[in-house]
Amino acid sequence: MKIPLAKPYFLPEDAERIKEVLNSGWVVQGPKVSEFETAWSEFTGARHSVAVSSCTTALHLALIASGIGKGDEVILPSFTWIATANAVEYTGAKPVFCDINTDTFNIDSTSLAKHISADTKAVIPVHLFGLSADIDSVSEVLGDKNITVIEDAACGFGAYRNGEHSGLKGRSGCFSFHPRKAITTGEGGMIVTRNEEDAAILRQLRDHGANTEKSSANVPYLLPEFNILGYNYRMTDIQAALGTAQVRRADDILKKRRAIAAKYDIALKDVEFLSLPKVQTGCIHGYQSYVCMFVSGKMDINSVDAVSEKRNKFMQYLSDNGISTRPGTHAVHAQKYYSEKYGLNHSDYPNSYIADRCSVALPVYPGMTDEEFGHIEEVIKKYK
Ligand SMILES: Cc1ncc(COP(=O)(O)O)c(C=O)c1O
Repeated sequence: MKIPLAKPYFLPEDAERIKEVLNSGWVVQGPKVSEFETAWSEFTGARHSVAVSSCTTALHLALIASGIGKGDEVILPSFTWIATANAVEYTGAKPVFCDINTDTFNIDSTSLAKHISADTKAVIPVHLFGLSADIDSVSEVLGDKNITVIEDAACGFGAYRNGEHSGLKGRSGCFSFHPRKAITTGEGGMIVTRNEEDAAILRQLRDHGANTEKSSANVPYLLPEFNILGYNYRMTDIQAALGTAQVRRADDILKKRRAIAAKYDIALKDVEFLSLPKVQTGCIHGYQSYVCMFVSGKMDINSVDAVSEKRNKFMQYLSDNGISTRPGTHAVHAQKYYSEKYGLNHSDYPNSYIADRCSVALPVYPGMTDEEFGHIEEVIKKYK
């Protein structure tokens, strides 16, 4: 049996929607992108949704629209996908890392507070693995300082805190439609914002800077004006048609993901070497990933490499039994580009490093059969 870590969930109607776009002859950003943006706003409760080519480009544009650039510092948790930090680098600003809480894998507000400086212009909390980060406690730490919050909700689809979908509290929120996410368009991203002016600028930025208000809208044979530097970060109508089909059945997709997580919660609760994902009061988890910690005795920065070896042996054992796993994500401050450029040590953000070394993501995807789940359960319970 070969069990993947993730598997996109497509239905025949998805292919039909794509066929419709191909038959229309209009495949770049067009009516299907607008339709996807509307469907996204309806599902999440966002006021404005702007589709782009990935969450990385979404973060890049959200930073630019917030005026972030050279000389600025942007604080982000170290335990995230490298794209969060890379987007800051693209703007010329300096990424400044802070630590996480290993119970939630999300930003630790106490650590955040320690890294605020006179140059801090933005913070990017990350809603990791489908659990909403506590944006209210981030805002409390920021107080009345003029610091922008941009939410990295790449994994935040279906993540709720006190009834509100992730991505909506900050100046903007950025989502990913990479195939490891609950809804996929192959590659793709979405920026949500309450601010109408930001939405207008974001629409220009994703399209080479084109000002479509001064364009061929009324005079179809003329070109738009370009008054700002933009990018080609557009989503195609082919991707958007797929996105709309998926978001329209989001409740079902999320229900299926949560059902698998609930089965893991019960099946693995007595497995001593695994600490299962915790859901804080007031939160509904989206389970982009089901990430456990491999625990063995003392779990501090000095003993973590020994525990990590044991974690890797466990992952090898699962792989030998046809079960695909990965670490949750990585400690970006320990990646060579960042550690060398900014002179960072592994121990600077100990929780992030421990999570990097000891986390294990187990397979989650709609359509996982009882037989597949039973195999995972049996293999894990046999491990010594
Ligand atoms: C936390 C986080 N941020 C950003 C990204 C980047 O998303 P994309 O692959 O759509 O650019 C990812 C992708 O996995 C992610 O997990």
